[in-house]
Amino acid sequence: MNTRTSQQEPMLLLEKVNKQFGGLQAINNVGFTVQPGCIKAVIGPNGAGKTTLFNLIAGNIPVSSGTIIFQGQEIRGKKSHEIARMGMSRTFQNIKLFHGMTALECVMVGRHTRSCAGFLAGMLSLPWTWQEERAIRSRSMELLEMLEIADLAGTEVSSLAFGQQRAVEMARALAAEPDLLLLDEPAAGLNIYETAEVARLITAIRDMGITVLLVEHDMSLVMDVSDEIVVLSFGSKVAEDIPANIQKNAEVIKIYLGEDETV
Ligand SMILES: Nc1ncnc2c1ncn2[C@@H]1O[C@H](COP(=O)(O)OP(=O)(O)OP(=O)(O)O)[C@@H](O)[C@H]1O
Ligand SMILES: [Mg+2]
Repeated sequence: MNTRTSQQEPMLLLEKVNKQFGGLQAINNVGFTVQPGCIKAVIGPNGAGKTTLFNLIAGNIPVSSGTIIFQGQEIRGKKSHEIARMGMSRTFQNIKLFHGMTALECVMVGRHTRSCAGFLAGMLSLPWTWQEERAIRSRSMELLEMLEIADLAGTEVSSLAFGQQRAVEMARALAAEPDLLLLDEPAAGLNIYETAEVARLITAIRDMGITVLLVEHDMSLVMDVSDEIVVLSFGSKVAEDIPANIQKNAEVIKIYLGEDETV
């Protein structure tokens, strides 16, 4: 019998998470869970602490106090690459692609975080990695096809349009075959057509069985795709609910008054 209670076990669990930067309480006693197979969004005004929260979850910076459990394992003390290998992948608010590489090569780099031979051996083309390399190349092409950018495979990423670079970044994150994907503002700077495409992709990713945690300012995208939403303000959680309830939550509406975006 399988002793894992995967049905009940959250993909991600945060409890009383705090982060201070000097005198600034960037994250204040935040707790929530992300259930497997769902799309959860974290929203909040600029500076609310959304990216900081992602940095804590992905192990890019340490928590000041509190607990983060990913797939049943406490991540405290683990390096970001170790957490990545446990099945977590992310994209960044500011696109981080390897300039000088083609779109396909960027995606292949993402794949190497999971491969046995590793990136260096792959780049050196050591003989015992050839077979693995071929598999990585073909899986990376599949991902570019899924994101409908296969025609850009051989193009250098620095010469791609912004929306295309975002799609490559998403393919790179998916190449590691994550169980949990963190997306930090995937629609930032995109037009409405590209944003609709991002919405389609996020839903498709969830349908592939990958759990998604999403930070996004585009409210129509958030309301469209999310199963649940957490609202942050000045580092604290002020609401957590399904989109329909968040839209009519008085405190959330107050937080967004005076902002460019309306809920
Ligand atoms: N490394 C750091 N050192 C000091 N302060 C930081 C650091 N990173 C973030 N902050 C501060 O923490 C607060 C939260 O920032 P964060 O980037 O997490 O907000 P955000 O919700 O992602 O905002 P945005 O919507 O603009 O991306 C801000 O006041 C920010 O200036
Ligand atoms: Mg941010």
